Amino acid sequence: SVDQRVDDLLSRMTLPEKVGQMLQLDARGDVKEIVSEKLAGSILHTSPAKMLEAIDLVAKTRLQIPLLTAEDCIHGHSFWPGATIFPTQLSMAGSWDPELLERVARVTAVEVSATGIHWTFSPVLCITRDLRWGRVDETFGEDPFLIGELGSAMIRGYQGGGLTDPTAILATAKHFAGYSETQGGRDASEADLSPRKLRSWFLPPFERVAREGCRVFMLGYQSMDGVPITANKWLLNDVLKQEWGFTGTLVTDWDNVGRMVWEQRVCADYAEAAAVAVKAGNDLVMVTPGFFEGAQEAVERGLLQETEIDEAVRRILRLKFELGLFEDPRAPDPQRQRLVIGSAEHSELNLEVARRSLILLRNDGTLPLDPAAKFRRIAVIGPNADSPSAQLGDWAGDSGQIDWLPDGQPREMIETVLDGFRAVAPANWDIDYARGAEIERLVPDPEGETYPDGQPRPPISQAAPVDRHLIDVARDKAIRADFAVVVVGDTVNLTGEHKSTATLELQGGQIALLDAIAATKTPMIVVLVQSKPSVLPESALNAAAIIQAFNPGMRGGRAIAELVLGLIEPSGRLPLSVARHVGQQPVYYNTIRGQHGDRYADLTQDPLFAFGEGLSYTTIEYGDLTVTTPEVAADGVVRATVTLTNTGERPAVETVQVYVSDLVTSVTWAGRELKAYKQVSVPPGESRIVELELPASACSLVTADGRRVVEPGDFELLVGPSSRTYSKAAFTIV
Ligand code: IFM
Repeated sequence: SVDQRVDDLLSRMTLPEKVGQMLQLDARGDVKEIVSEKLAGSILHTSPAKMLEAIDLVAKTRLQIPLLTAEDCIHGHSFWPGATIFPTQLSMAGSWDPELLERVARVTAVEVSATGIHWTFSPVLCITRDLRWGRVDETFGEDPFLIGELGSAMIRGYQGGGLTDPTAILATAKHFAGYSETQGGRDASEADLSPRKLRSWFLPPFERVAREGCRVFMLGYQSMDGVPITANKWLLNDVLKQEWGFTGTLVTDWDNVGRMVWEQRVCADYAEAAAVAVKAGNDLVMVTPGFFEGAQEAVERGLLQETEIDEAVRRILRLKFELGLFEDPRAPDPQRQRLVIGSAEHSELNLEVARRSLILLRNDGTLPLDPAAKFRRIAVIGPNADSPSAQLGDWAGDSGQIDWLPDGQPREMIETVLDGFRAVAPANWDIDYARGAEIERLVPDPEGETYPDGQPRPPISQAAPVDRHLIDVARDKAIRADFAVVVVGDTVNLTGEHKSTATLELQGGQIALLDAIAATKTPMIVVLVQSKPSVLPESALNAAAIIQAFNPGMRGGRAIAELVLGLIEPSGRLPLSVARHVGQQPVYYNTIRGQHGDRYADLTQDPLFAFGEGLSYTTIEYGDLTVTTPEVAADGVVRATVTLTNTGERPAVETVQVYVSDLVTSVTWAGRELKAYKQVSVPPGESRIVELELPASACSLVTADGRRVVEPGDFELLVGPSSRTYSKAAFTIV
């Protein structure tokens, strides 16, 4: 059995070999040192050449234990030339479609596994709270239920037919837990989260995937109530392993163990930090080379027992056996790479997911344009109208993170918005282009050229000055056009780890550009290609239409053009709330009710666009909502029906959202929470009766003493097209 094989191997390992197995090191460094001296069990950020070198070196080690290779392939194979780069996680969340995301993850796994990578650090199950945070694009938005649905689907997709499936890759649920509860949106700031708040909203997606058998969890960077997550025995052991029965492997985030010494300063040296990390339940230690000596010294000094190290190594070896790496180390397979990477079939799925994820936020009736019109002149304007990197977003090859792919993905694989219009608009239409504005200029980081751990610090992005000449050229083209499509947003330098933003305003010359185009009176269609929602100026808010694309991936530009021309139907829904003003941060729909100070003297507290909102090109009317189970037991099922009628002229996929409100609760609780949803196709002029159901156990809350229970009593079911618009019906849980 696997356990016997693990025990046998472990019994033959020396202490340095065991400690080495716990190390995951950065293959951009010296691979000989990593494999032959530090005896690392795992590598990340590896180039094809480095991977082959590492495999050769492993074959020369005493026990030849196969390496686990990992990469951040979080929306496609991020750093492989020619790989299929899908929309970012936030962008795809706009589809609300778990089945689609499962297919995306499957395709990603097929491409990634062909390159010898066994493991991806995806999906992110953090809930977005503050939009200033730099990693909003990596999340599925703000709602724990939606995150659970989509995250669970992606894990299924990555892990395919089971871990021994040669096209499967390991998935990682990250960042466990509370990492997104930032202060002022700043990345990895101390999260002051009570265990109750954590259990109420931050843990549920993680609990779900742990119980479904996700094999790896990655820790967050931050501390919680003074305890670094890396040292949080309660969270890692008591909750994850004991309570939820997680038997998989834990990996720290980047140098978490070292951070306890040089950053958080809760440990005096690496021996102490190694002991604390192992005792808390960590297994793989990401990029803390000093752990190798530290852990051995900890054993010598009696801070740590070798048997405690054995437990961690056992979990790592078990994973390697479960993947079948001892039988087949799953080296890169050039033949399979040629067949699958960036294949036409994968590209088709990429287009499908981009189409399904676009969110139409405003439309005064201008959209869709009529592709049957004899002649139209369209001015495609803006710094992100023809920007491959903005379209792909972070973790996509040219975000400066991986130096062996400095030029990003092949240009010809990426369809920008401009490319999209040129490809899908009728051949005789005139498609004109002007850049219109710059977003940023890059300057050296004033805090220095390196981080305290010696890693190079990338340049920082500063708002570019308004360039009147660029604006004038764009304005002249807009004046001559029938429609102006203005594509604004942000850049990869304004998103990612350590790249939170203080403001949510559109940067550089973009506001001046929007104002100038709005003043031409040519109908303006604003397209947002960005990592996270920005605050929009009046000129954009009053535009004829607004389309939120986030980072829509390689084929996103075509999908946007198709949407504008009505070749596809808009069906995306917002996975998070969009703020009117940066001062509203954080703004999310499932806030605690009854905080009477929770409003501003100078601004409404309502978001500009609410969670769940998104328009179609038709009108869907909701008929009476009927709860068919007015009284249910706590272990029963709440059932309801609602009739949808498409009163317009175009087909639609409607996302029927089901929220629950518990009327009287023992603790203050959210006014409403999403508990189910259903996507229903409704052809024009037709009606559909939609049957909805949710287990009464979903109507639970976390009590003052930290237990998740259903409190019997009166509830309301809120059913409608968004978290802001719904009908109510009562039910009782007895
Ligand atoms: O996977 C990432 C994590 O999300 C943030 N820190 C670095 C890791 C590895 O690249």
